[in-house]
Amino acid sequence: METVICVNDLKKTYKTHRRKAGFFNAVKSLFKREIVLKHALQGVNFSIKEGEIVGFIGPNGAGKSTTIKALSGVLHPTSGSVNSLGFIPWKDRVKYVKNIGVVFGQKPQLHWDLPPLDTYWLNKDVYDIPEYEFKKRLNHMIKLLDVEEVVHTPTRDLSLGERMKCKLIAALLHNPKLVFLDEPSIGLDVIAKDRFRDFIVDINKKFKTTFIVTTHDMGDIEKLCKRIIIINYGVIVYDGPIEKIKKEYLTHKHLDVKFNDLKKKFKLSGCKIIKEDEYELKIELDTKKQTIKNAINYLITNFDVADIIVQDPPIEEIIQKIYREKRK
Ligand SMILES: Nc1ncnc2c1ncn2[C@@H]1O[C@H](COP(=O)(O)OP(=O)(O)OP(=O)(O)O)[C@@H](O)[C@H]1O
Ligand SMILES: [Mg+2]
Repeated sequence: METVICVNDLKKTYKTHRRKAGFFNAVKSLFKREIVLKHALQGVNFSIKEGEIVGFIGPNGAGKSTTIKALSGVLHPTSGSVNSLGFIPWKDRVKYVKNIGVVFGQKPQLHWDLPPLDTYWLNKDVYDIPEYEFKKRLNHMIKLLDVEEVVHTPTRDLSLGERMKCKLIAALLHNPKLVFLDEPSIGLDVIAKDRFRDFIVDINKKFKTTFIVTTHDMGDIEKLCKRIIIINYGVIVYDGPIEKIKKEYLTHKHLDVKFNDLKKKFKLSGCKIIKEDEYELKIELDTKKQTIKNAINYLITNFDVADIIVQDPPIEEIIQKIYREKRK
């Protein structure tokens, strides 16, 4: 399979100014400012093949958005190289953008006062999309994401989730080979998230579109990605199949249990209480030592249980584990 992106020793150091609090320091800073360097990327390497959906994950401030910005051409890195679809993103930007799609979950990307549909028509000309193709694709996407009404409403009046769906359509209308999604599921409800994910999988299958997705949502990762790249402090700490991570690190489950009454002490092997309230327990279960079935049975037979939620620990916890092991 063809390599679409190759990233080599990518570094980005941001320069910012620090100012101490207080009036005196504010005046002082007019004359002399203290420069602070932030090494956001410290030599990032990876390559991605056509048709992959890669999850790019890591804690806050790890360098995900900085990488996506460099790859999509809006940021000039300090050093290193990127070859994406044969382009150097930040140098060949004008030609390059016709081949990619970008969604920044936290940035406005549609015209605020216009309905999304108007933005789409504008983009049709910008990207030279033939009218027949444009209409066919647009109708298909509108149906898939269930936004028939929404696309006629001015963007400023749309909800967060509706806006996100419309942004995704805008990013995909020109049928790009490569798509960057930076936290695309922010603000989506559970049903919308499902549609959104199905939609991405559908586009990926149909057109062999390559996706790079940053997210804090483990559901996105599980549904979309076979491969994940984990970044922390601007360094890649894992690049490989998600299954391997699950096997080695997803060895615990979290049980959130609500009680109508909690008089007895909870005690079960392989389980640790990590948070305790009057009517609630948060339990960490080691799946190598205890089964979920057993734990639920034990809870139901011995306590007056109102609700049990079983979930994976947050991605951040897994990353911290990997990171700690790397430093050992
Ligand atoms: N324009 C900027 N000027 C200075 N520092 C910046 C700038 N943009 C990002 N940084 C810093 O670089 C680091 C990496 O930021 P980045 O936005 O890439 O993180 P992220 O992995 O996307 O995090 P999040 O999960 O919070 O979105 C952070 O410490 C951030 O404070
Ligand atoms: Mg970010």
